[in-house]
Amino acid sequence: MRNLVVFYSLEGNTRLIAESIAKAINADVLELKTKKKYSDKGFKKYFWRGKSVIFKEKPELLYLDKDINQYDNIFIGTPIWVGTYAAPLNTFLKNNKIEKKNIGLFACHGGGGATKFFNNIKKEIPNNKFIGEIDFMEPLKNNKEEDVRKAIMWVKELIG
Ligand SMILES: Cc1cc2nc3c(=O)[nH]c(=O)nc-3n(C[C@H](O)[C@H](O)[C@H](O)COP(=O)(O)O)c2cc1C
Repeated sequence: MRNLVVFYSLEGNTRLIAESIAKAINADVLELKTKKKYSDKGFKKYFWRGKSVIFKEKPELLYLDKDINQYDNIFIGTPIWVGTYAAPLNTFLKNNKIEKKNIGLFACHGGGGATKFFNNIKKEIPNNKFIGEIDFMEPLKNNKEEDVRKAIMWVKELIG
């Protein structure tokens, strides 16, 4: 069984979890990166990204060097933006037909939880087996070590 961790992260929280779980199960990693940088200053930081989720924008991504068809287990991670997954995931889901995979979902958020992300992505890519979901509240600011441990235990239980 081949494992892939796919994620987008703006401020590093989701990247921390993604890299930790990938290392724990010897998975390949595919980081989604947008071609165009969003503005990072104050209000604009939220405005443009919030807008991108609300209008279901599909920002162009840099070249993806992994082919999802080569994998059996795919772990998908995102920060929560306006209640759901970040807009770069829209592009990824549109350009890659994900079917008949085992899917694990993980997310980082500021306290609002990730239920809507879990529900929305299941509707978006329904023909898969969803094997687990987990979320963290900004691990870089809060419980970094504990969250990394939790993430590793979670992923090992799923495919161990
Ligand atoms: C545009 C934007 C919208 C956000 N919306 C939410 C939200 O609806 N609920 C929430 O709990 N956190 C929200 N956050 C906080 C992020 O989800 C949180 O900081 C997360 O840990 C960031 O992950 P990253 O470091 O991988 O980018 C938002 C952040 C941004 C930039």
